Amino acid sequence: MHLQTFATLPSTNQYCELLDLSQTEEFTVIRALQQTAGIGQRGNHWESEAGKNLTFSLILKPDFLPVADQFRITQTVSLAVIDTLKPLLPQWHGQLRIKWPNDIYVGTSKICGMLISHKVQHTTLQASVVGIGLNVNQTLFPDWVPNPVSVAQLLHRDTPLDPLLTQLVSHIERRYQRLREHIDEKEEYLSLLLNRGIESDYLYHGTPVRATLHDVNSFGHLQLITSDGTPLSCGLKEIAFLLPSPQPLQEKSL
Ligand code: BTN
Repeated sequence: MHLQTFATLPSTNQYCELLDLSQTEEFTVIRALQQTAGIGQRGNHWESEAGKNLTFSLILKPDFLPVADQFRITQTVSLAVIDTLKPLLPQWHGQLRIKWPNDIYVGTSKICGMLISHKVQHTTLQASVVGIGLNVNQTLFPDWVPNPVSVAQLLHRDTPLDPLLTQLVSHIERRYQRLREHIDEKEEYLSLLLNRGIESDYLYHGTPVRATLHDVNSFGHLQLITSDGTPLSCGLKEIAFLLPSPQPLQEKSL
C-alpha cells in the first residue's frame, strides 16, 4: 500500500479523479481524516465526523479484467470489507450482509458504503477508484442519515483507525489476488446478500413491488422475481430497497 493521508479533502474520490492514474501506482490509498464534501451513491452526501472513521479511496489497475466484468471489483471489495469486519465483530458475524451492490450492513443498519468508478481503455479496465467510508468510532449521526451504525456503537469502545485501515487494505489485496487468478467468488457474494431468497419490498421505477432477490447477473444487475412471477433485472437507478426500520441488534454470545 502507498498511503497518502490528508488532514482535510473535499472528497478522496474527487481528489483521485484529478490524478493522472496512468502515473499512479496500484494500491495507492488517498485517505482524508476529514472530508468536507464526501460523495455517496446516487449523488448523496457522505456524512463522516472528522477523525472518527475510515474515509479513503484506493486505486486499482485491473487491466486483466474485461470492461464487461467490472462488477467483479464490487464483489471483491465487498467481500474484503466483510473479511475485515468478521473478526472485529465476532458477536455480529451472522448478521453481516451485503446490500446490493456494495453497502455493508449489520442486521438492518449500514456500517460501510462504497463508491466505485472505473476508467476504461479499449476493452479492459485501466483503473478503478474504490472509495470506502467505514463507520468506526462515530457514535452520533445526524437524523437525516438513514439507519447508520458504527463499530464503536456495537463494541462500546473505540477501535484504532490505522491498523484497521492496514487490515482492510490487506484483505482487499488478498481478494484481488484471487480475482487476478480468476477464482470466482460469486457464490460467496450471493450467500451474503441482504434479502436473498426472502420476499421483500422494493420500489421499482418508483412503484412498490414485492419480490424475491435470487441472483446478480455478470453485469452486476440485480435479478428479482415479483410475487406474481414477473422477472425483473435492475440497475442501481431502477430499484430501491424498502427496509424495515432498524431493529435493536442482537449480540450473539460467543
Ligand atoms: C454510499 O453512499 O454508500 C457510498 C459512500 C462512499 C463514501 C466514501 S468516503 C471515501 C470516498 N470519498 C468520497 O467522497 N466518497 C467515498
